[in-house]
Amino acid sequence: MLNRRTLFGATAAAASFVTAAMKGRKANAKILSHDFEPRGTVGRLERLPKLDLQSSEDFLTTFRVLVNGDMTKMARARADELIIAKGLDPNAESTVEEALEVLGDDPIIGSYFQSWNSAQQQMWKNIRDEIYANADAYLAEMEAADKSGPGTLELNPGIVPDWAKYEIHQQPGGYVGDPFAGHIYHYGTNDFYMGANDQDSIHVGLAGLIPIPRDKQINRIHETGTGCGQMAVALKERFPDAEVWGTDIGAPMVRYAHMRAVDLGVDVNFAQRLAEDSKFPDNHFDIITNYLQYHECPAESSRAHIREAFRTLRPGGVFYPIDFFTGLLVPPRTAFDKMYYWWHHRWNVEVWYEEYASLDFAAEMEKVGFEVSKRRSGPRVSKQRADNLSLERAPYVTGRKPV
Ligand SMILES: C[S@@+](CC[C@H](N)C(=O)[O-])C[C@H]1O[C@@H](n2cnc3c(N)ncnc32)[C@H](O)[C@@H]1O
Repeated sequence: MLNRRTLFGATAAAASFVTAAMKGRKANAKILSHDFEPRGTVGRLERLPKLDLQSSEDFLTTFRVLVNGDMTKMARARADELIIAKGLDPNAESTVEEALEVLGDDPIIGSYFQSWNSAQQQMWKNIRDEIYANADAYLAEMEAADKSGPGTLELNPGIVPDWAKYEIHQQPGGYVGDPFAGHIYHYGTNDFYMGANDQDSIHVGLAGLIPIPRDKQINRIHETGTGCGQMAVALKERFPDAEVWGTDIGAPMVRYAHMRAVDLGVDVNFAQRLAEDSKFPDNHFDIITNYLQYHECPAESSRAHIREAFRTLRPGGVFYPIDFFTGLLVPPRTAFDKMYYWWHHRWNVEVWYEEYASLDFAAEMEKVGFEVSKRRSGPRVSKQRADNLSLERAPYVTGRKPV
């Protein structure tokens, strides 16, 4: 396997691959069709096409490790100092207004947030600039994959509601407004995961911990909000005999997901559909899951999806949604945390974050008829740098009562 850190070896290997292709020997069609993309793949990851782009992404990844680690500790310590200086308790419950009053104008806390912001904006820009510089080729590649298998692709451009038309977490064009949203999201989030997900390890780990129905019947699986389809692919790999569907509101997301699954040779069906209006029959699926969907849609959409999951899950099936606060993580309550989530809402365009954090998922699920069981210990899904990620805490496991 190539490792991008062994640059000379990798470049030489890619070059000899192309040379072999030119001589008409067996070659990777992707390399043949992309003169702008000579750097091949590492495991599941198609390498970024240029070394300088890779270098700047590597820098941003490293910088994010620093911001999420030591700089966060520094900002928290500074917040404690300021709160204590006001005669208040930093661990006490706070409103956003109270938090901003004490912390809002502090330059140390401000530079922490600005560092986070600059890395985020640069991350999207780098990737997008590269894609747009070669837009025709990237589009042609996607168009060719649209009609290829394994797996199917269904697009329904008319379904996108206004609430989805935001540039969530500052991603240019958001999930629905840029034809390359899937490419941008995939490489951007590799940076977000600080190197821990380059091989989809987080998604593979999450797919691996989803509990199976008691009767062990797993014929059909649905992942909503599938994004680039990483978990849907991992689910198909875990349950090769099941029919797996990945759906998402964004056409560019499912197009990219489909293209990637075709590349990987994994048979998953992708469709542009709303989670809350999935179009699947009653009692259809044995497992329904999603990952990081709910904090990116209105609370009402999440509630509607929980109802839809109950309708489309068969009795005895398992519903396993995963997001920041669907499981054991406690929604923000102290001043620094309130400011942190407010900041993401206001400046990182996490439009739905605050109303999402106010939802009681266990109660919502019970309301529609699910049996809810809370898992007590948070499994580790990635050994690499997982300590920096709070995403993989165990969510609620919910099931439909068998009849
Ligand atoms: C943060 S991304 C997560 C994507 C993917 N699950 C992953 O693991 O990277 C959220 C995804 O959920 C999709 N989404 C959000 N609300 C949705 C809804 N109500 N119906 C369908 N897709 C939705 C977005 O379009 C986006 O692709």
